[in-house]
Amino acid sequence: MIFSGLDMMENKRGCSKRVREIRSSAIHEMTRLSSKIEDVAFLSWAKPTSDTPDHIKAAAVKAIGEGRVGGYSPSEGLPELRRLISEKLRRTNHIDAEGNEIIATIGAIEGLSASVMAVIDPGDEVIFPIPTYSTHIRQVQLASGIPVFVPTDETNGFDLDLDAIERAITPRTRAIMYCSPNNPTGAVYTEKQLKELADIAIKNDLFVITDEAYEYFTYDGYEHFSIASIPEMKERTLSSFTFTKSFAMTGWRIGYLHADHSLIPQIGKAHNAFAICAPVVSQYAAIAALEGPQDCIDEFREHYRSARDLMCRRMDALDHVFEYKKPKGSYLMFPRIISDGSEDSTKFCKKLLREARVSITPGVAFGPNGEGYARFSFCVPEPQIDKAFDRMEEYFK
Ligand SMILES: Cc1ncc(COP(=O)(O)O)c(C=O)c1O
Repeated sequence: MIFSGLDMMENKRGCSKRVREIRSSAIHEMTRLSSKIEDVAFLSWAKPTSDTPDHIKAAAVKAIGEGRVGGYSPSEGLPELRRLISEKLRRTNHIDAEGNEIIATIGAIEGLSASVMAVIDPGDEVIFPIPTYSTHIRQVQLASGIPVFVPTDETNGFDLDLDAIERAITPRTRAIMYCSPNNPTGAVYTEKQLKELADIAIKNDLFVITDEAYEYFTYDGYEHFSIASIPEMKERTLSSFTFTKSFAMTGWRIGYLHADHSLIPQIGKAHNAFAICAPVVSQYAAIAALEGPQDCIDEFREHYRSARDLMCRRMDALDHVFEYKKPKGSYLMFPRIISDGSEDSTKFCKKLLREARVSITPGVAFGPNGEGYARFSFCVPEPQIDKAFDRMEEYFK
């Protein structure tokens, strides 16, 4: 076997075809390059910059003090946490969830990995509306599934193209996987669209795997809809949620998945192999998050809406460089780069980083039709947005 210079550099030798075929993350690459530049205006991460609310931290400290976190919990999670999660899913997402249909996971990410592993066989096709969160694509590749891309279009706000999804279905199609509110585009799929998607899934006997990490972050009257709330979809939907975004708990690594009770024992096998259980200290923190005041969610949403509006205003002044659709949800914006007519988003972002000290993520990281776009994160303090746009205004003058 012949290895390229790059393979040698990345020490891919002997590693599985699965991992070798996975492209390294452009987000991490931008982070690495940004760390070499002093005083960078950093808009590359979709990570809350607020700290976890105090009552959640205090509950974790108490659990540690009382010696409750030194062992494993049941693999699916603490019964009290699963009960509270099922109540939240009924109340907020209108999903007819029982405690035994929940698994506490290591963030939404592990829930999604376990879901993919549980329903995808090697060679199965999984349909992705793109641009999408690239980790999902990697999860399918790790399960030896085949990602099938169905582009969404900027001109209609990156909404689902249901006809194109239907046309992409083959006898090998096993699932449709999406995130809404969407990373990177900020699209929010409506109840009407998701009901039509549900009809397609039912007609073709497909699973639907959802990432609802940004469920609380929608603006201008747009509302999040959980497809598992459609009664006929419950048995074929695997939905992942997280405390990361709603309660600013990124580093605690705690989320949960919901699926019909008939699927949980199978998904549980993958979860157990990946994790044994979610971090126990974080499960106690999550109990406090669900039991305690929920105002932080509204505060975060208001902060992101205001930051989005600021970013849009500042981007308007750069209308010779970027063209954008106002995001309806998440805390990300995905403008088209029009400054130099070049389609190469990676080159554009690297040059902007080097020459203007502004870090954004190349759109191509989110699927082939993301080329020519860039992702901007507005979950940062507003002065950081101003700093980045002051620099870009000067640079593109
Ligand atoms: C769409 C999406 N899903 C999941 C995650 C990560 O979630 P967690 O920290 O719960 O694993 C992110 C993080 O940026 C995300 O953007």
